[in-house]
Amino acid sequence: MEKGFTVWFTGLSGSGKSTNSYRVYMELKRRGIKAELLDGDIIRTNFSQGLGFSKNDRDINIRRIGFVSYLLNKNDIVSVVAAISPYRKTRRLNRDLLGDYVEVFCDCPINFLEKRDPKGLYKKARSGEIANFTGISDPYEAPENSEIILKTAYESEDESFEKVMSYLEYNGYVLPDSECTLCDYSESEEKEIKEHLASLGFANRITEI
Ligand code: ADX
Repeated sequence: MEKGFTVWFTGLSGSGKSTNSYRVYMELKRRGIKAELLDGDIIRTNFSQGLGFSKNDRDINIRRIGFVSYLLNKNDIVSVVAAISPYRKTRRLNRDLLGDYVEVFCDCPINFLEKRDPKGLYKKARSGEIANFTGISDPYEAPENSEIILKTAYESEDESFEKVMSYLEYNGYVLPDSECTLCDYSESEEKEIKEHLASLGFANRITEI
């Protein structure tokens, strides 16, 4: 049985954390590896209700996700996390707690994110309608020692995905795909992937996946 570990995607809002983490998560499942996906937006709706975006609340949120990851890893379940996680010290505490921790920095220039802004959040942050918005009116302490850096403005989704998977293979977290005995999506997993990609706006690329 494979050991639990955590793949932690950090980066600004809209930098590609959800898309990339979801793809990695589904790939781990395809390879027969037990994994769970902890996405910031979903965690905040179901597990961290009531927390806001002050430094203290963000730190509680991120430590909570770290602790859940610890419990999952202890039971040989891989935790795939997508959360802004803006503070270096808090990321460090989780790294120390988890041990087998692979940090993936979704590095995307803010002007690029502001231009794209699919949820209109950057616009609202600029006008002051949303306060304490990461990158605009709240800090993002960029990682200095991430295991993987994805340049999401410049590389394709496939390139980003390959970077993460080859890191995990090369460093012995997962077996190479060629040695995978359980590989294949079940029908329901395939349906789940298609629906999720469509919800992220990749409907016209589904046939490539
Ligand atoms: S974190 O700072 O605690 O790691 P988290 O990843 O859970 O943040 O949540 C970020 C999501 O909350 C963003 O994708 C965005 O949709 C939403 N959001 C709402 N208000 C803010 C804000 N002030 N700063 C950042 N994100 C916000």
